[in-house]
Amino acid sequence: MYFFFIPAGYRRKKERNRTAMKNRILRSAVLLTLAFVLAFSAGCGAAGAEGQKWWQKAIAYEIYIRSFKDSDGDGIGDLKGIISELDYLQSLGIGAVWITPFYVSPQADNGYDIADYYNIDPLYGTMEDMETLIAEAGRRDIRIIMDLVFNHTSNQNPWFLDSASSRDSEKTDWYIWKDPREDGSAPNNWRSIFGGSAWTYNETRGQYYLHTFLPEQPDLNWENPEVRKALTDVALFWIGKGVGGFRMDAITYIKKPAGFPDGKPDAPDGTAGIHGMTANTDGILDYLRDFRDAVHGERDIVTVGEANGIIPEDLPQWIGADIGVFDMVFDFHHILIDLPDEMNWCVTTPWKLSDLKEIFAVARDETGYANGWSSIFLENHDQPRSINRFLPEGADRKAGGKALATLLLTMPGTPFIMQGEELGYVNVTWDSIEKYNDASTVNHHQFALNSGYSPKEALAGVHRFSRDSARTPMQWDASPNAGFTSGKPWLPVSGDYETLNAEAERNDPDSVLNWYISLAGLRGEHPVFTEGTCKELFPEDDQVYAYIRETESEKAVVLINLSTKEASYDAACLEGAELLTCTHGTNTPGVLRPLEAAVYLAR
Ligand code: GLC
Repeated sequence: MYFFFIPAGYRRKKERNRTAMKNRILRSAVLLTLAFVLAFSAGCGAAGAEGQKWWQKAIAYEIYIRSFKDSDGDGIGDLKGIISELDYLQSLGIGAVWITPFYVSPQADNGYDIADYYNIDPLYGTMEDMETLIAEAGRRDIRIIMDLVFNHTSNQNPWFLDSASSRDSEKTDWYIWKDPREDGSAPNNWRSIFGGSAWTYNETRGQYYLHTFLPEQPDLNWENPEVRKALTDVALFWIGKGVGGFRMDAITYIKKPAGFPDGKPDAPDGTAGIHGMTANTDGILDYLRDFRDAVHGERDIVTVGEANGIIPEDLPQWIGADIGVFDMVFDFHHILIDLPDEMNWCVTTPWKLSDLKEIFAVARDETGYANGWSSIFLENHDQPRSINRFLPEGADRKAGGKALATLLLTMPGTPFIMQGEELGYVNVTWDSIEKYNDASTVNHHQFALNSGYSPKEALAGVHRFSRDSARTPMQWDASPNAGFTSGKPWLPVSGDYETLNAEAERNDPDSVLNWYISLAGLRGEHPVFTEGTCKELFPEDDQVYAYIRETESEKAVVLINLSTKEASYDAACLEGAELLTCTHGTNTPGVLRPLEAAVYLAR
């Protein structure tokens, strides 16, 4: 999958610093002239206090539907299961739920291969269930965000079946078809994000079709206005059903470069990763502006683009309050911090906390200049668990989960919690590749073996990066299968469920879950966490992540020790402030115990 690619425009630290500096100077001049400079003088995006939208105040939660809650015993989560846990989500203070795709699908990529955008896969329920979900969630002030997979469909979608049936079919140009080269080989050397050629040959047409992901996921041809209209209609249909917005899957890939040129080979087989060739191709924003105008306009919905491959300097075009195409994006830079090579899970880049801070700061600056809005996430269904990724090896699960929760829920922007993150889940480390489900995990494991890594090394890479770690069934209680299903779960439940489950955590006042709940409460009580500006403290410190959130009436100082050693810092920043909350109960100004997080407040 493409989340492990270094985005095309990703710049190393110094380069990014230089560009950011240049941009700052340029923009300062413009802003001064426009007398807007005060709004951004904190050097850290102002959150825009006036008239916040519901999604700016909300905490969002991602549900991987297959794994959340099964109501009918088939071992696969479903809509009725989600309905039965809405109270749980409400108790967590959730205002928006993004659910991974549950449209009709052959499930080659667990729903990200859609065969019918207008109907619900019987695996997951019925349209009536969906209507009930929207209504029941609405009663709890929770809105449902649908996953719109618009870069590609399933190869079983009638659109594709028609397109593949003949060169003269009605939908002949709805997908990307190209003739073979003279020797019969694929039109170019692009490698799909899941590995292997990005082209698959179709006998009937005597042509190849392009797929950024699996061969079962052919890319739609966005150049064709009929395709764009058909996709707009899909979005409008779901708005008509009452959804609160959309997460736009893989949206940076919809435009391909003219001429479909070969890329510079970056693998021993002479292929070039498609990400580097197509992500954020010039002209993409024209399509997305049309989509924004037709679908969003003044409607009270939220849109979030999955934005791998855009550089921070592009953020204004994507999420600027006036010129952006989406309300928020999922920016990828922080989740690429540890992976230098797209395909190679056996090599990780060492990084320091100050590197992570800088990545967030650059994105926040660009977002702030554009008066845009950020999404904050540390996990999703494509990523390993954050405790394993962002904390030192051996970090205590409970303390670490709380420290990261503090970061997630107090940084400026809308936080997205991945199911299980609020319980402090860690990666699964199954002893055999056979136990893993995710196709890309299997491909990466094979790639490692082919590249000469030992079986042990290849499996260690899987333990670090497999998408399955985020996809194991939700652990509700200590009953068989963790209360997720009465049947056989589609993916094994993680071995720790007897002690690590929602019920046990609810009953433990010191649990990660209860820490999330208390932080959610504080966000509700103190607008500073949603509206406040953000000024970073000690940017070079590699143990303590610290910043000040501030409105006219409140100032919150957030201090998080993300290391497993005691840390000290200059407590002058706490002048006039009192302790609001602390992971360890009490807190000594100037000192943080390992993984301790404290929030101080001044009014
Ligand atoms: C997105 C999804 C991922 C999926 C891919 C193809 O990145 O998050 O799970 O495999 O798109 O649709």
